[in-house]
Amino acid sequence: MAIERTFSIIKPDATRRNLTGAVNAVIEAAGLRIVAQKRMLMTKAQAETFYAVHKERPFFGELVSFMISGPVVVQVLEGENGVAKYRDVMGATNPANAAEGTIRKLFAESIEANSAHGSDSVENAAVEIAQFFAGNEIVG
Ligand code: TYD
Repeated sequence: MAIERTFSIIKPDATRRNLTGAVNAVIEAAGLRIVAQKRMLMTKAQAETFYAVHKERPFFGELVSFMISGPVVVQVLEGENGVAKYRDVMGATNPANAAEGTIRKLFAESIEANSAHGSDSVENAAVEIAQFFAGNEIVG
């Protein structure tokens, strides 16, 4: 299986509760390597660009407000089948539907405050990584 990189965000609900290390422990236990990481406050423009695919959805405004409500930790994760693997490790968007042991089952507060983002394809991962990291900030 191919080694892939995926883009991850530990969302403001998780950083607010001091869960960065707890989320990272789940990521590393699953065999994914954190090859870039930084804590930041997203600007409104960054959040709107990041979630532009959802701009016509009714939850878009609240989602953007939530994403800029506190610090996030943006990350690049690397591993075998990394994109799909991290989607499995995160669990379903709505924590009520997330499998046992997943990040969202363990930590998410709601469908909006769901603790983690992970890219849904290799192509989107490359676009999302480039939005937040320069090439020399990623060290595999
Ligand atoms: P989506 O891309 O559907 O899910 P995922 O993060 O699992 O790839 O949605 C992006 C984010 O939008 C999701 O993580 C939380 C938020 N969201 C809502 O706030 N309400 C909703 O009804 C949906 C579907 C998503």
